[in-house]
Amino acid sequence: FCLLISLSTATHGIAGKMKIVEAPNTFGVNNNFLSHGSRLQAKVLPSPVSGPSHLFHLAGRCFSLTQSVYRYELCPFHNITQHEQSFRWNAYSGILGIWHEWEMANNTFTGMWMRDGDTCGTRNREAKVLLACSSQTKLAQVSEPSTCVYSLTFETPLVCHPHSLLVYPTLNEKLQKEWDEAEQARYEGLVTEQGYNNLVRDVFEDAGLLKSQKAARKPPRVEAEVETHGRHLLILYRSAWMRRGAFYLLQDFHKQREEIARLRALLTHHNITKGAKTTAEAQQLRGDVGLLELAKQDAA
Ligand SMILES: *[C@@H]1O[C@H](CO)[C@@H](O)[C@H](O)[C@H]1NC(C)=O
Ligand SMILES: *[C@@H]1O[C@H](CO)[C@@H](O)[C@H](O)[C@H]1NC(C)=O
Ligand SMILES: *[C@@H]1O[C@H](CO)[C@@H](O)[C@H](O)[C@H]1NC(C)=O
Repeated sequence: FCLLISLSTATHGIAGKMKIVEAPNTFGVNNNFLSHGSRLQAKVLPSPVSGPSHLFHLAGRCFSLTQSVYRYELCPFHNITQHEQSFRWNAYSGILGIWHEWEMANNTFTGMWMRDGDTCGTRNREAKVLLACSSQTKLAQVSEPSTCVYSLTFETPLVCHPHSLLVYPTLNEKLQKEWDEAEQARYEGLVTEQGYNNLVRDVFEDAGLLKSQKAARKPPRVEAEVETHGRHLLILYRSAWMRRGAFYLLQDFHKQREEIARLRALLTHHNITKGAKTTAEAQQLRGDVGLLELAKQDAA
């Protein structure tokens, strides 16, 4: 006995948060003489400041490092730029990335992604900032592990405490609860690993730690397959857009189980059992949902 549920509604309101960012086209309009750095045209606006609140006061500050012929400038939560140290009239200055989102693993902030930098062949330059504990606050190192992808090490005493980069404490109560529920669902085997990852991603997006991908999501369609015994719930995501909906479905499923227990008690009370079998035997053979069928037959 299988239940196949198709959802096509309950998705309104999710898209409301979507924000399209463009650099204002008046940017740099006063720079007639291509003065140093003024040619830099950001493609996007930086994401809002997010993550551990003790890092917020780094916003608006900039740290530079000169390595060989380049001076790099990191402005946390804003941008990374590169300036060729040369007196050539056309010395290169460029944007390596604009503050985009956090990278997280194992409940820990592991890096700050700065994306949508200057064009580099068919893609845009991007950079990951690694935070390292040190007694001084400074940009310590810049490398380019693969073409046009930069890696920066930013040192600061602000990340020395062992809990300073934990994700969970930065979330509000509601989002913590949602994360707890996702963990519980995974623990009970009610969601697939992919489903769990999607639920947690939603939490991070709502917290502003990850840039929302909801804009890119397609019209909603989710199919969930509920196996008989209430132990296993396989959720197939036809669209990431409906992940949250699927989670509510899961919560409904818990309610449904309670309803089944209620029906069972009712049936027992009215001595409704199949053939010679006792209610307990029938349960064993049919599973919970079998009783639903029985109830339907009874109603008909
Ligand atoms: C980079 O960030 C700094 C600090 O917030 C800001 O003053 C500067 O205009 C930004 N540059 C670009 C090209 O976005
Ligand atoms: C996850 O973090 C905990 C402590 O925060 C640590 O003990 C554990 O080894 C980490 N696991 C992985 C896979 O990094
Ligand atoms: C159910 O069966 C029991 C004993 O078999 C009987 O005493 C009771 O009255 C029955 N209840 C109903 C609602 O028929």
